[in-house]
Amino acid sequence: MSIEAFATLIVMEPETKHRLFSGELGPVKDFFIYSPHFNLTMLNLSLQMATLEGIEAAYCTLSGMFVISLVLMQLCSSGDHVVASQTLYGGTHALLTHFFPRACSITTSFVDLRDYDTVKVTIMEGRTKVLYFEVVSNPTLTVADVLELCRIAHDKGLTAVVDNTFAPMCTLPRTSYGTVFTTPRFEDYSEYTEVFDGWDEAEKLLSMKGLVL
Ligand SMILES: Cc1ncc(COP(=O)(O)O)c(C=O)c1O
Repeated sequence: MSIEAFATLIVMEPETKHRLFSGELGPVKDFFIYSPHFNLTMLNLSLQMATLEGIEAAYCTLSGMFVISLVLMQLCSSGDHVVASQTLYGGTHALLTHFFPRACSITTSFVDLRDYDTVKVTIMEGRTKVLYFEVVSNPTLTVADVLELCRIAHDKGLTAVVDNTFAPMCTLPRTSYGTVFTTPRFEDYSEYTEVFDGWDEAEKLLSMKGLVL
């Protein structure tokens, strides 16, 4: 596995460029456009992370807030709503409280995720797109029932987005509910990983330009 320098990759056939930008060709078929978008190092790391976690796909970024912003902006559009835990990392709380309502009209209701009835009634049909929580919260170390919350999200047609920063790797459960885990690995990899549990979600999230699997 090499370390990739910033590079724009050469495409020999003009037709290939069109197929790259339309998403027909991409990293898993060994086609790369621009190394900061995707490169062999990132592809290999992502594949190895997915194998280690036992899930369908992973995508690596350089910071936790980057991946959290990326996932939420991919899943939510203007006017959409998020139901989130009332105990969240300060950066995520600020993103949901200040930035999203002002910049994108995405609003959030903060609830006690141990109270499942409140979670269910706070979900607005058609508007709420994400149930967001941390496996072990920062601060207060509240432990979430990941499977139960993912099941509620799935039953209500939402995507559960789960920040796994404070929990060890072995606690990452398989939910089969199309869950997205954001999993910083300070000690293990010095990297941040966005982990997808459910191939549909992985494809949806990676279908951004340049990130098509
Ligand atoms: C629970 C949690 N989520 C997300 C983050 C954000 O990570 P980063 O500082 O890499 O943006 C942190 C950072 O400490 C965190 O504790």
